[in-house]
Amino acid sequence: ASGLITLDPGFKNTGSTKSAITFLDGEKGILRYRGYRIEDLAEKSTFLEVAYLLIYGELPTQEEYAKFSKDITHHTLVHEDIKKILDGFPSNAHPMGVLSSLICSLSAFYPESLNPNRDKESVNLSIIRLLAKMPTFAAWAYKNEVGHPVNYPDNSLDYCSNFLKMMFALPAERYEVDPVVAKALDQLLILHADHEQNCSTSTVRVVGSSQASIYASISAGINALWGPLHGGANQSVIEMLDAIKADGGDTKKFLDKAKDKDDPFRLMGFGHRVYKNFDPRAKIIKKAADDVLSKLGTNDPILDIAKELEYAALNDQYFVDRKLYPNVDFYSGIIYRALGIPTDMFTVMFALGRLPGWIAQWKEMRENGEPIGRPRQVYVGATERDYVTMNKR
Ligand code: SDX
Repeated sequence: ASGLITLDPGFKNTGSTKSAITFLDGEKGILRYRGYRIEDLAEKSTFLEVAYLLIYGELPTQEEYAKFSKDITHHTLVHEDIKKILDGFPSNAHPMGVLSSLICSLSAFYPESLNPNRDKESVNLSIIRLLAKMPTFAAWAYKNEVGHPVNYPDNSLDYCSNFLKMMFALPAERYEVDPVVAKALDQLLILHADHEQNCSTSTVRVVGSSQASIYASISAGINALWGPLHGGANQSVIEMLDAIKADGGDTKKFLDKAKDKDDPFRLMGFGHRVYKNFDPRAKIIKKAADDVLSKLGTNDPILDIAKELEYAALNDQYFVDRKLYPNVDFYSGIIYRALGIPTDMFTVMFALGRLPGWIAQWKEMRENGEPIGRPRQVYVGATERDYVTMNKR
């Protein structure tokens, strides 16, 4: 109102809201969900329990958890007409685009979600529907790509096992979920579950602040996450590591490219807006990569390339000066690949993990009655001038 506008591109120094959900300390590399350390949750909790914690603010009691997971299990099916939307996509459609479209279509099947003044129970049902149906949509997006028939949810399975079965089961053979794979996936989803006001979460908040439906808000978050500078980085990291391997494993050459101002190439999976120290999630995932690959008996040569690249970057002045460390995306793709997840589904996995965080942040924004997100600008365009008719231009 004072007319004084502080220009802050990328909102690097702007606090957009007050939140009680996730705490980050970038200097110390600390991450906590509702006060609980990410290291403890990754080791002792489950993804659904973490989803409950983020959304409702407390760790659930036995009965709260039983009701929450039962509700989710009984909403995993989607309206059969949604298959017509899926069938409209060519097989080369990136799964993130399919996912954001299918999620947004839910506002058509549940029109009560368009009412900004609906009651708490109605909002909560949308939250359950999102958590329950996102895995179904994610697996269907993959089946559309590979030309296999979609699988319907199996309500006898836990969250991750059900997702894996929908992803990989084929009519021609029995599919048994490997518990090692399901557990590794569950931990990865925990590590991606929330991260305060990152690009996609801010997008969910801004879209939700106009009182658009929760489905439209989450769909917008999926689209923001898709970009290679954000969630799409986990796919770009693997493509980069594969390129380094194909090029003979010369990590120094790629480091130099990343440092060259004239070269748009960046070291994917490195750097972070907040962490100016190790991303605590990257530390846990790096350890889990060794653990999961040895349990599965697979050794992926790009894990060694990733470690070499990390070592080289952490000892390179350019990266040290800019406090660039591996972030959550640097090692995650190596585990996803070992779990059999195809590369262009890596960012979908990030979206699956981030969903409870987006929901929790949307819910907090709406319950706090936050104002519509509408920043100002510093105008640098043309000064006032008169219209010139076409024949005089
Ligand atoms: C995620 O915000 C979140 O919390 C995101 C996330 C979450 O959980 O939601 O943590 C998930 O998105 C992790 C980040 C995944 N993205 C990547 O790995 C892509 C590569 N990283 C970068 O593009 C970059 O580091 C960002 C986007 C992550 C952060 O960008 P910033 O904060 O805007 O920093 P910047 O671009 O201003 O970089 C500062 C300097 C620049 O050099 P100078 O102009 O000062 O000389 O560091 C350089 C940059 O050129 N730099 C890099 C680099 N990252 C930053 N140089 C080479 N390689 C990189 N990866």
